[in-house]
Amino acid sequence: PHPSQWKIWSEADFTNTWKTRNKDAHKGTFGTGLLLAGSDEMPGSALLAGLASMKIGIGKLIIGTTPFVASIIASRLPEATYWFNGLNKLPNGDWPVGVKGIAIGPGLTDTLLVEEAIKKIWETNIPVILDAGALQKREYPKRNAPTIITPHPGEFSRITGLTTAEIQKNRLKLASDYAQEHQVIVVLKGANTVIAFPDGSGVINITGNPALAKGGSGDTLAGMILALLCMGENPKIAVANAVYLHGLCADELVKTRNENTIVASELSNILGELIYTLT
Ligand code: APR
Ligand code: MG
Repeated sequence: PHPSQWKIWSEADFTNTWKTRNKDAHKGTFGTGLLLAGSDEMPGSALLAGLASMKIGIGKLIIGTTPFVASIIASRLPEATYWFNGLNKLPNGDWPVGVKGIAIGPGLTDTLLVEEAIKKIWETNIPVILDAGALQKREYPKRNAPTIITPHPGEFSRITGLTTAEIQKNRLKLASDYAQEHQVIVVLKGANTVIAFPDGSGVINITGNPALAKGGSGDTLAGMILALLCMGENPKIAVANAVYLHGLCADELVKTRNENTIVASELSNILGELIYTLT
């Protein structure tokens, strides 16, 4: 990494880049996201990612998941629409029109189906976020759209073959090396999430706390990134602001709550007040 191209993302960075909705805006203005997430064993991942996307401001959200998952989560997220078994349909090239961004992986396991879907996504120029079950050791084709990967240290270990101890000792450099070599945006999660860009620049996040060390908080982050991308924000800013806000929600919650007692859906639920206060 080039130290001069790395910065800590500050409150001012957030407030200077956060956009208010134009008076004549309509839902199309804020993009349609496709979320390929959730399985019968992990239905909540789709809900948490979807909730985060919609609460942060995406125009429309299509959740590609099983009918079983949809039937569980629809009443908690009535604003989303569903594409039943999207993962199975995607390889045939039959998919929803007008999708501005895709997130794939929360609540999925690394099945052949996921791999086939990713191959199909590579044929498009739609920005994509690979999380959880979509994170594997792989090559990334050259595309005219950003590819964003959101590994925690364990997943980054799976991708790179390095041990988590090696990764944690050298987070910034390893994330940046990978981002430059593969031309992807790397969001290496954990305390002080590091965001490395393909050009060698990057952002260090200083929000967040151990309240986030609980199942579901990563799903929530993936949803926030998807939304800001679909809303038309430039990819660097979209990712930095999503990571910043995700952590800040946790920081806000621990002002009045014990850190052990916070669950991921609560992050999304306070986004509104938080952004209102900041902007
Ligand atoms: N300080 C600050 N932030 C933290 C801390 C901490 N001590 N601990 C965790 N976080 C943040 C991370 O930066 C990240 O944004 O919480 C989030 C955790 O994300 P994940 O590790 O992906 O957690 P999770 O939601 O449980 O993942 C769900 O995906 O990663 C797979 O195997 C995992 O099946 C599981 C699923
Ligand atoms: Mg995760």
